[in-house]
Amino acid sequence: MALDGKLLALARERLAARRSENQREAERRRREIYARVPALRELDGAYHALLRDYIALVGTGGAQEARLRETDRRAEELMARKKALLRANGYPADALDGVCTCPRCQDIGYLPDGRMCTCLRELYEAERAGAQTRLDQAGEQGFDAFDLGWYEGEDRAVMELTLSNARQFVRRFAADSPNLLFQGGTGLGKTLLGRCVASAVAKAGFSVAYETAQSAFSAFEEQRFSRDPDAAAAAGERVRRILDCALLVLDDLGTEMSTAFTQSALYNIVDSRLNANRKTVISTNLSDAELAARYLPQTVSRIAGEYDTLVFRGRDIRALRRERRYR
Ligand SMILES: Nc1ncnc2c1ncn2[C@@H]1O[C@H](COP(=O)(O)OP(=O)(O)O)[C@@H](O)[C@H]1O
Ligand SMILES: [Mg+2]
Ligand SMILES: [Zn+2]
Repeated sequence: MALDGKLLALARERLAARRSENQREAERRRREIYARVPALRELDGAYHALLRDYIALVGTGGAQEARLRETDRRAEELMARKKALLRANGYPADALDGVCTCPRCQDIGYLPDGRMCTCLRELYEAERAGAQTRLDQAGEQGFDAFDLGWYEGEDRAVMELTLSNARQFVRRFAADSPNLLFQGGTGLGKTLLGRCVASAVAKAGFSVAYETAQSAFSAFEEQRFSRDPDAAAAAGERVRRILDCALLVLDDLGTEMSTAFTQSALYNIVDSRLNANRKTVISTNLSDAELAARYLPQTVSRIAGEYDTLVFRGRDIRALRRERRYR
């Protein structure tokens, strides 16, 4: 299939934006770590000095074998000390390495043999599908809108963790990201946070779909049962997006009327997205027990095994707002 040059240019722009975003993130982390553990800055400095020596040595050529080996040995030693020091301070050993979203191509978009990487292909497809348009329902929503001031005491601590996990999910959105289950009562910000996640991941250039469970299931139903061929085709296109997008945010699971059909549609969504390693965020008011009672065991066990639960706790923010207004 021939690629459209304009769309490809747009996709590559997005990839470039992702690269500079990752560079900023790496730089931010480096500053933070150096500030906490100044010895690491010195180790990095020594390492870079060694690299310069090494390059100079290689440049001179000739009988430098012994000195090159010695430089190698010292470089390895410095690396080992750096990793040990990072671990001792509670960081992963690679915390000072560069940040990249796609480990296969380091966010270049092409593999060493010149083939296009799947990450650039994905960006291209997102441009082609007009990924942003499906976000209309979700709307543009920044994380700044999510205010921790609405939660008190222990609830606040729980919600801080939930928010930081959601931000982390967005920052490191990639093939090895987890799936997320937003779980908690009404009015606690699940829909809001789902929208924040959806728009941030879309901004990073991935194809994203935001759907309430109810509307997703009715797309499946229409595709299957509609007598109107145009409506069936449009529904089929939506179903394809629900199954194929890089990130699906499925909001409000459990509010739909439960039928054998919705149950099998949910299984289909969860199972096929897991198999294709596409990420899903599901939000629900239901507890684990309620989920288990309502959906197929195969579905529930996949969610239990493959989704990280982010807990929502606190008092219904809609109710809190009303109280404040009338006081
Ligand atoms: N952390 C928050 N900061 C600011 N507004 C919030 C927050 N959480 C929820 N809201 C607001 O409260 C209302 C209910 O939130 P919503 O996300 O719909 O809750 P849920 O989906 O959990 O029922 C919405 O108007 C939403 O914008
Ligand atoms: Mg909601
Ligand atoms: Zn790649």
